[in-house]
Amino acid sequence: GESRGILTCLSDWRGLMQWLLCFCLSWNTTGAEIRYTVPEELSLGSVVGNIAKDLGLEVSEISFREMRIASVAGKQYFSVDLGKGELVVSDRIDRESLCGQSASCLLPLEVIIENPLQLHRVEVDIRDINDNAPHFQSSERTLKIAESTAPGMRFSLESAQDPDVGDNSLKSYTLSKNEHFSLEIKDQDDGRKVPELCLEKALDRENKARHQLLLTALDGGSPVRSGTSQIIIIVLDNNDNNPIFKHPLCKVSLNENTPQGTSFLKVEANDLDDGPNGEIEYSFGDHTAQSVKALFEIDPKTGEMYLKGTLDYESTPSYRIEIIAKDKGMPEMEGQCNVQIDVIDVNDNSPQISLTSKPSPVRENAPKGTVVALISARDPDSGDNGKVTLQIQPSYPFTLEPSISSHYALVTNGVLDRETFPEYSIEITATDAGSPPLTSKKTIPVRILDVNDNPPRFPDTAHTVYVNENNTPGYIICSVSALDMDIGDNAKISYSILDSKVQDMSVSSYTYINSDNGSIYSMHSFDYEKLKVFQIQVQAKDHGSPSLSSNVTVHVFILDQNDNAPAVIYPSAVMGSLSRVVQAMRCSVLVIQPRV
Ligand SMILES: *[C@@H]1O[C@H](CO)[C@@H](O)[C@H](O)[C@H]1NC(C)=O
Ligand SMILES: *[C@@H]1O[C@H](CO)[C@@H](O)[C@H](O)[C@H]1NC(C)=O
Repeated sequence: GESRGILTCLSDWRGLMQWLLCFCLSWNTTGAEIRYTVPEELSLGSVVGNIAKDLGLEVSEISFREMRIASVAGKQYFSVDLGKGELVVSDRIDRESLCGQSASCLLPLEVIIENPLQLHRVEVDIRDINDNAPHFQSSERTLKIAESTAPGMRFSLESAQDPDVGDNSLKSYTLSKNEHFSLEIKDQDDGRKVPELCLEKALDRENKARHQLLLTALDGGSPVRSGTSQIIIIVLDNNDNNPIFKHPLCKVSLNENTPQGTSFLKVEANDLDDGPNGEIEYSFGDHTAQSVKALFEIDPKTGEMYLKGTLDYESTPSYRIEIIAKDKGMPEMEGQCNVQIDVIDVNDNSPQISLTSKPSPVRENAPKGTVVALISARDPDSGDNGKVTLQIQPSYPFTLEPSISSHYALVTNGVLDRETFPEYSIEITATDAGSPPLTSKKTIPVRILDVNDNPPRFPDTAHTVYVNENNTPGYIICSVSALDMDIGDNAKISYSILDSKVQDMSVSSYTYINSDNGSIYSMHSFDYEKLKVFQIQVQAKDHGSPSLSSNVTVHVFILDQNDNAPAVIYPSAVMGSLSRVVQAMRCSVLVIQPRV
């Protein structure tokens, strides 16, 4: 109490003398004579007690003896009502600022009375009232907790301060209702109570990324006072979700002639995780064939699929591709889906005509329906696009007969004549049923084989030839020639003289024929006077099998020479000139009426 007394004196306006006096008086003082107990924060003028009465003084006396209060606390909290002798509150008394956290708070006062000078010690015991609420340093606190954190983990929170003492000081904490955290209070060595959050149930960022709790500190006063602090919990992401595709199977149809670079599908996967854990990259499955990779492309970022190559329904009508979505977490997680691409056939293939057998030459006398060639038609397209019909021009003596699936037989369908058409080029047209239809043509050469259907033919049915009498034997009377329209052996002709009688002798004893070239030789010297005319039947025969032949008659007239002198009955100039003509003649087409 002494040092506080000195300080009080020093601050007093009465100066050094007063201080000296005060010091000397204080020196001998012992324990307080009177103790008052008052609650803090009394309103000004409140009566603490009747100090005059308590000191055994008359009210009249205190005024006279100039009773006054010298506070030791530096500030004048009390004064004396000299009229009533009461000690009254003259300033605000805040226990917390006077005594802090100490359990008792005694305010020593000195009562000075003069004439004679007396000093009395009075103590005022300031009782705490619950005038302070618990208070948190920070009104908000943020905690970052990984979602993988195991339940049971504890997190220290800030403790609240309450300057009040005893029951009025901090007593407990409460936490707003929530399903993940509970509150535990840990008693520190220094008696402080530290609240702790205890994780009761695992967090799931994907379910709730931010939790907001309210920590309330309560004191034990009556009424209870409280202070709060917001606790924000940010749940940190763990890569605990794999990307999931919206559709496990996507089907798309693409026309065969879809141009390169066409984007035809966008796959989409979702990853509930945050940041890189939820960042998705698309790719084809590991086992995707190289041919598929060459044909299709996927944008790793957007999942958009493009056509990179050319589709061909005929080689692959459908594709099934596995698409992988991977996140960028550590370790990464993945999801997958399938994309089915159905190629729609477009009429992009012309029908093809092929010969299953080499066309065989056909005899000109072949009956109707003789098979010339086997033909097959093919169109790699499907459906109507691949339905093929074959046609040939109706003018040909051939027709197509369908046989088993898309096979046709080219058969004869009319009269063939090698001599008119030795070879046909048959144009076959194949047309598919697509829209628009595609066609293709193929020409098949068909050779017609000769048949001995033409006999040798003489240009004329009869010849007339004039021969001078007295000719030397071996002289060529004339030559006959026949033509055969056939070819080869069928056209090879042998000539012969058919036997007949001339004046009781066989004609062959007069004449001889070169069988190869039809030259007829005389084997006799003719005598006009004995034989004037005779006929030779020549047959031309081909080498066909069976052979064919035709006949021609050669009329031979013997011309008279002047070999019988002297009897000339009809001298004739005409005759002479005619004989000269005949000398050089061959079997002539000239028809000369013979003179008989
Ligand atoms: C027929 O052949 C013979 C003998 O080779 C020949 O002398 C004659 O002139 C030939 N005739 C014709 C019409 O060529
Ligand atoms: C040719 O003459 C012979 C003998 O007279 C006869 O048998 C044959 O039928 C004749 N041929 C033709 C094509 O007239």
